[in-house]
Amino acid sequence: MGFAKDFVWGAATSSYQIEGTGRDSGKGQNIWDVFTKEPGRVYEGHTGDIACDHYHRFREDVAYMKELGLKGYRFSIDWSRVLPEGTGKVNEKGIDFYNALIDELLEQGIEPYITLYHWELPYEIYKRGGWMNPEIVEWFGQYARLVAERFSDRVKYFFTLNEPQCFVGLGFLQGCHAPGVKAPLRDTFEMAHNALKAHGRAVQMLRAYGKQNVQIGYAPTSGMCYPEKETPKDIEAARKALFALPDDLSNWTWNVSWWSDPVILGKYPEEGMKKYEKYLPVITDEDMKLISQPIDFYGQNIYNGRCIRMGTDGRPEEVRRPAGFPKTATNWPVTPEALYWGPKFLYERYRKPIYITENGMACHDTVSQDGKVHDPNRIDFLARYLKNLKRAAEEIDIRGYFQWSLMDNFEWDKGYAERFGIIYVDFGTQERIWKDSAYWYRDLIRRNGDF
Ligand code: BGC
Repeated sequence: MGFAKDFVWGAATSSYQIEGTGRDSGKGQNIWDVFTKEPGRVYEGHTGDIACDHYHRFREDVAYMKELGLKGYRFSIDWSRVLPEGTGKVNEKGIDFYNALIDELLEQGIEPYITLYHWELPYEIYKRGGWMNPEIVEWFGQYARLVAERFSDRVKYFFTLNEPQCFVGLGFLQGCHAPGVKAPLRDTFEMAHNALKAHGRAVQMLRAYGKQNVQIGYAPTSGMCYPEKETPKDIEAARKALFALPDDLSNWTWNVSWWSDPVILGKYPEEGMKKYEKYLPVITDEDMKLISQPIDFYGQNIYNGRCIRMGTDGRPEEVRRPAGFPKTATNWPVTPEALYWGPKFLYERYRKPIYITENGMACHDTVSQDGKVHDPNRIDFLARYLKNLKRAAEEIDIRGYFQWSLMDNFEWDKGYAERFGIIYVDFGTQERIWKDSAYWYRDLIRRNGDF
């Protein structure tokens, strides 16, 4: 018992967070290239212009992956690197870069998992209305076709969208992520609907132009819910809370069911259709058919969760965290149970094999006097979470786990202030140093997750 023999031990990154633009790379601008140049948007004016310079150093980084013993590596393609204007002319240098990365991974025995969209909206597409323009469904589809045509001879696994909750919610509702817009509610629902349709169109294109039997998933997020006690009542309360929709419209995107029910079950949740009625665009049967193109597995990024019990009124209620509750450097609570109950509830509802597409923590890591980076908090975090995942893997179909992140990188509006990596990056010299957690993860992989 435990993790399956072919369990995919992996790590994840995304293009803007690690690649750097690359001089003369022919890359077009995406909304993050533009947003980061606007004063006051990102911590200390940091940008992803250089980031981890992975564009030039990918061979070194893949060598670390190999040493870690990774079975899979999840990375994203910068849409604006391969299609500088989002549509039309292909940047062959961009294609060459991803081809070289894919070849290097395969050479080292590491399975590539491509994410099509980890928030790299080409700026030219944004200028044409971005997610508000229904034509984006076809633009994204054509981009997916290009990816299938150029990479799927060697790449079998694809994720369409990473965390639509965040790119719509943080990008267009709260405005703290690129493009930094506070759009009317009505628009955010329309963008969400177009994003889901774009997902469906990408699935169609990957299947139509895939050069092998491609396997396709999706990588949404949200906080998970877990029961205070393992009693039928609390478990039921946690399950209900997980799939409920927020009443607070200023944070409506932060949920599971609005984003995943349409994709897997082919319909928006009734609760939301009522709650959000005033703001919804026209939704047709044809749209729902497109959105619910069959996918092969379900990915979920899981960082934390809320503790729930059944209230005396028969409704789920959140259990307040006591003072001093463990938290990460980004102030996120440490709730390992999220990695047992989250996948379990998701599997019960969606019945798809599950990949944990991201999980990890930010610590205030520094290089110690001995030249090493000691991160006992991260080791403790990963051990607690993975023990919970192991319990889940003994009960349901869990295929893999992608630790976030392979290396410290550009943490969006927090710039380089937050370190999520198991490999430390000195952003001045680009030196990489294995943190203690990297050695720990390597050993855990060798034992196939046996604690
Ligand atoms: C995103 C990553 C991000 C991580 C930590 C996820 O929301 O997909 O890009 O770096 O969480 O904030």
